[in-house]
Amino acid sequence: MRFVRAILVVYCIAASVAAAAAAAEHGLLAEVWLDTSGHYVAQLHIGTPPQPKLLLLDIAQNSISVQCDEAPNSDATLPFVPPSSTTFRTVIRGGSPVFVDFPIAKQMQLVADSFTFNATDGINPGQHDVEVKGMKFFCASPSPQQPTGVAGLGRGKLALPSALAIHQKLPRRFAYCLSGNAQTRTPLFLGSSNYTFLPGLQFMSNLQHTPLLKPTKKRTGYRVGLFSVKVGDTTLSIHPKVFRGGLEVSTTEPYTKLVRPAYVALVDAFRRAESGIRRVPARAPFETCYNATGLGSTRVGPPVNVISFVFGDKKGTGAAEWPMYGASSMVFVSEDVMCLGFLDAGPLPAAHSVLGTYQQQESLVELDLEHNQLAFFATLMFVRTSCGNFNFTQGNFF
Ligand SMILES: *[C@@H]1O[C@H](CO)[C@@H](O)[C@H](O)[C@H]1NC(C)=O
Ligand SMILES: *[C@@H]1O[C@H](CO)[C@@H](O)[C@H](O)[C@H]1NC(C)=O
Ligand SMILES: *[C@@H]1O[C@H](CO)[C@@H](O)[C@H](O)[C@H]1NC(C)=O
Ligand SMILES: *[C@@H]1O[C@H](CO)[C@@H](O)[C@H](O)[C@H]1NC(C)=O
Repeated sequence: MRFVRAILVVYCIAASVAAAAAAAEHGLLAEVWLDTSGHYVAQLHIGTPPQPKLLLLDIAQNSISVQCDEAPNSDATLPFVPPSSTTFRTVIRGGSPVFVDFPIAKQMQLVADSFTFNATDGINPGQHDVEVKGMKFFCASPSPQQPTGVAGLGRGKLALPSALAIHQKLPRRFAYCLSGNAQTRTPLFLGSSNYTFLPGLQFMSNLQHTPLLKPTKKRTGYRVGLFSVKVGDTTLSIHPKVFRGGLEVSTTEPYTKLVRPAYVALVDAFRRAESGIRRVPARAPFETCYNATGLGSTRVGPPVNVISFVFGDKKGTGAAEWPMYGASSMVFVSEDVMCLGFLDAGPLPAAHSVLGTYQQQESLVELDLEHNQLAFFATLMFVRTSCGNFNFTQGNFF
């Protein structure tokens, strides 16, 4: 790659080729925010000319699907309009599927069109649009449902990581950083690295890593091994069998859910550790709530014991620790009431543990399918920055 790049620079081959190479090196960028319906949405630009559309950010989905409609609109929250795009085409004609290895709902059609992105060096968006041609996605019939589509970032061939690897030769890797403030734009890095937030803090080399568990037929999402849970310095006594299914990272579940034995142990330990704070009646869906009056606050939220998830296996392989301070563990349900923001996933063996979006806010999360690992920086607030601090001003490069 380096060699190819050198040749391109020396011989100054056609700009479009150089642009593609620069994009391939830099990776691409999309904007993500929390919409008014409480979903994290990614803004993707589909078609020619590009139509901005807000799609649900879902790292568990294995394809991209978008509601399609004939009626023209210029609203990112309304369906995509195929007749307004000169590059739109139908991939499956007359109901004969081109691909047979994934299910297609009756009302969906496999189609293809260009997607347009900004390149990024990890610091800024680039100056020129990068058009990725022939991206396949499903067109669904229009409905009032919000958001109007799903930006799938799963392992599947039709999800963004693999599609961009095929069309744009990007590494199958992406990273996101969720803000809890509605409408605060944050970056979704696609095939990029060098994640940098103002004032010039580069997180790439400061991430912790842990391997992803192998997907199974039923559980295709991104899961990591959960070794133990701590409240303060105390490791909860939870039988290792309890965590057998691992912990799935989700961008659609709002709160972290633990399988019942782990949830019960966490709640007991937390209540014991915080017996000095006045409990108040539960506020659904939470079971452990406190009167926060006079408690004060720190840079990382209310001053409560940190809850840590320790990843990896018994042998210590892939060990990494994700600390959750007050801002990540406590949810304010009113001005003076805060609740422990974890939920009961239900009894084993049916239930699964899930890392929810609330606990991931202000964390940089990378899913690297090239190295089959989760990488993260748990609390940007600790280093005095935030997910909203990406510099979205276009920089002086492609
Ligand atoms: C590129 O970045 C600029 C500046 O942030 C933004 O206004 C524009 O919508 C982006 N374009 C695409 C295709 O994402
Ligand atoms: C990565 O970021 C540093 C500054 O944080 C910058 O000097 C370097 O050029 C960047 N690398 C790439 C490939 O953009
Ligand atoms: C919390 O405590 C304050 C001060 O003691 C009190 O005024 C307030 O009513 C309490 N709130 C709840 C929900 O118990
Ligand atoms: C954001 O990036 C632009 C383009 O590189 C730069 O001119 C500007 O100074 C940056 N903003 C801050 C606050 O550093």
